[in-house]
Amino acid sequence: MAATIIDGKALAQKVREEVRVRAKAFEEAFGRKPGLHVILVGDDPASQVYVRNKERAAEKDGLAGLVHRLPADTSQETLLAKVRELNEDDAIDGILVQLPLPKHLDELAVVDAIAPEKDVDGLHPVNAGLLVAGRDGLRPCTPSGCMRILEEAGVDPSGKRAIVVGRSILVGKPIALMLLEKNATVTIAHSRTADLEARVREADIVVAAVGKPELVRGSWLKPGAVVIDVGINRLADGSLVGDVHYGEAVEVASVITPVPGGVGPMTIAHLLENTVKAAELRARKAG
Ligand code: GUN
Repeated sequence: MAATIIDGKALAQKVREEVRVRAKAFEEAFGRKPGLHVILVGDDPASQVYVRNKERAAEKDGLAGLVHRLPADTSQETLLAKVRELNEDDAIDGILVQLPLPKHLDELAVVDAIAPEKDVDGLHPVNAGLLVAGRDGLRPCTPSGCMRILEEAGVDPSGKRAIVVGRSILVGKPIALMLLEKNATVTIAHSRTADLEARVREADIVVAAVGKPELVRGSWLKPGAVVIDVGINRLADGSLVGDVHYGEAVEVASVITPVPGGVGPMTIAHLLENTVKAAELRARKAG
């Protein structure tokens, strides 16, 4: 059976078309664009590329995007003051502090300082708590993108066995909760999991988000499994690979996301969607 290969770029365009419509409606109703502000500390080259992509995407889709670039030696106090300034600005709906931060800064304290209703990364403990409780809130962008991929591929998680390989706060834990919400039976695997291969082989849905190049082999998969690969790993030869061995897995899976061009483009699309959602919710609250 040939696997369905998810075109993440095309699907992200579909999500972003919806974002554009909502952003335009918001601007017509409230006389300003939904505003996304990104704080970038230091000059990590990968972070600079990510942030530039976010800024461009925001502007393309009718949002007001702005990046605040702070030097690598910025103090915790200066960074917190910047977050508070953006919290208090009524024209700003979404705040994202690009991670990782330079080592001397306390990431958790910075995330805690973001107003939960502007936390478009969905990382603030209030938003994490709403997700655990199964309530509406701002949810992390990559897991939201993965769930949209499942929906668009016609995969209903209900009653299925799912395994999430990786337990990060940004991807593994939230996607496990989202799959549970859709009535999957979810296993969260990690570096101490015994016999990972056997656990993966039991799963109808495999989400790999562990950051280990080509860890999950085709021979580990149950025939017909749905494979969502969140990993983006750069090899010594410069090529990009996921956490799943794509060439092997594509022969066994029923649905699979490639790397690049699978989950990646969906993350930005859902960041923009979260920003529009935050704008709509804040406007409704202000009444
Ligand atoms: N760095 C890499 N991915 C992300 C993300 O999703 N959000 C933030 N804030 N930083 C990141």
